[in-house]
Amino acid sequence: MLQIAVIKKMLPNMVKLLATVTFLILVGCSDVQVPKFQQSEHHPGGSMTVKRLQTLSYIHPGSAVTPMQKLNFWSGFSFFRDPWVIAPSSTKSRDGLGPLFNTRTCISCHDAGSRGPMSPEGESIPSSLVMKFGKLSTKIADQSLSFVDPNYGGQLQPRSILYKHPTLQNTMQGEASLQLTYQMINGRYADGNEYQLRKPSYKLTNLAYGAVASHIGLTPRFAPNIFGAGLLNAINSKDLLAQEDIDDSNNDGISAKYNRVPNVKTGAIEIGRFGLKANHPNLPQQIAAAFRNDIGITNTFFPTEACTTIQKSCLKTAALTSVKGSVEINEKLFSLVLTFNQLLGVPPARNLNGEIQNKGREHFYLLGCQQCHRPNYQTDKNYPVAQLANQSIWPYTDLALHDMGKGLADNVIDHKASGQEWRTSPLWGIGLQGKTTSRTEFLHDGRARSISEAILWHGGEAAPAQQKFIQLSKLQRKELITFLQSI
Ligand code: HEC
Ligand code: HEC
Repeated sequence: MLQIAVIKKMLPNMVKLLATVTFLILVGCSDVQVPKFQQSEHHPGGSMTVKRLQTLSYIHPGSAVTPMQKLNFWSGFSFFRDPWVIAPSSTKSRDGLGPLFNTRTCISCHDAGSRGPMSPEGESIPSSLVMKFGKLSTKIADQSLSFVDPNYGGQLQPRSILYKHPTLQNTMQGEASLQLTYQMINGRYADGNEYQLRKPSYKLTNLAYGAVASHIGLTPRFAPNIFGAGLLNAINSKDLLAQEDIDDSNNDGISAKYNRVPNVKTGAIEIGRFGLKANHPNLPQQIAAAFRNDIGITNTFFPTEACTTIQKSCLKTAALTSVKGSVEINEKLFSLVLTFNQLLGVPPARNLNGEIQNKGREHFYLLGCQQCHRPNYQTDKNYPVAQLANQSIWPYTDLALHDMGKGLADNVIDHKASGQEWRTSPLWGIGLQGKTTSRTEFLHDGRARSISEAILWHGGEAAPAQQKFIQLSKLQRKELITFLQSI
């Protein structure tokens, strides 16, 4: 009897001990290891790393680019930088703007190869912040117009050209203005230090073509960094698919999923890589979509203007200004712009051997950031552009979609991406953004004003990593951020 009483008394302690042992085993078993530093980390773009550190702009060719390629690179750049004008004009190679459009140049949204200015709070005609339209539920069948707005199409084009013609009765209008509001959210790190986040909400005002359909939602897309995209395009799909884990069968809480999107040239369904929900399968198609949707320049990928059936003056202007049987940017000029984008180099890493950077690097792996921000790849050795092939690169992304929780959700479906899923952002070079653009704005809608704020918004699959970040001391947070600013 006495023995039973003693055991009963000890039971709670034994349970506690067992729990502690299990916890230690679990922690001990979690295979978090900080990989040994590799020399190639100093050159995140391999031979496409920019030769010397440049802090005024990301727009520089990679160091392996040949003098001949540089000529094409810079002439491609001129079509990225110079404004497109209304057709017909004397500058034939750069006309065709609109009828509806977002901005006249690529560079106005991708300032210095990065991100243009965010829209201000209140009412404005947005530029770098593109408002796209998409369906709110997977239950709505993918019929021709069910995944875009019947009146506005796939994206808000807030500007229009002024084209005068006797047969055009009313002058055309941009589609709408944007009303942006921030709600401030206060929070605290475990060490008591405070932080403040801003949560955006959006409303369209001055809607020129009626109401937005009830099954359609708005999805904000703030122009991302574009350097290094040629290298991301050169990763073999097999290497990406090898890490797909849609049902989280390895039980690590992370379910990398690739978007599946049409290749508009072949009709094949391929994995998505570009765009904030990875809705384009390759770099050429992404650039072609930018030309047509953002500037109104038709091309061989997207040969018709973005006018909906109720946008009569848009349709009529398009008919009046187009040359039958030809698109507004021909293959030759398009390939120059593609060359420019492909050969944009990646900045070299800074002081990665510093003590603070070293500690920060450890935190990066111990917090689990690398589960989505996959550090390193070897690009496809058979890739047709020699400088992009077989390079050891450090982009810190798996290019996969992840559920990032309700806080970041847009609730809009984009092919296979759900309303809570976003593509992991590459992290290379982000530390220079403050210098190249004199602004620091992060995440798909530019809501985060610093790298720390971007991490604090991580939820869903990334919630455990975000929680660990909150637990860090002030010094440890500084170490992690310094590492991220150095890669
Ligand atoms: C009105 C602003 C705007 C203009 C103009 C614009 N872009 Fe973009 N760009 C964006 C946005 C927003 C995205 C993300 C799109 C998405 O998520 O669907 C993007 C994505 C990209 C990407 C993919 C980057 C990645 O990591 O996925 C590339 C490359 C790109 N743009 C190149 C260009 C080029 C080249 C031009 C000119 C032909 C151009 N853009 C014009 C706003 C713009
Ligand atoms: C579950 C996957 C996942 C994990 C884990 C994760 N991230 Fe992310 N990260 C993402 C996705 C997806 C985005 C894009 C979210 C968006 O734009 O709304 C992102 C965006 C970012 C950005 C913003 C980049 C930019 O240019 O806008 C930073 C910085 C970042 N992550 C750092 C980290 C750090 C540091 C950690 C570890 C503490 C981490 N992430 C853990 C998936 C993840």
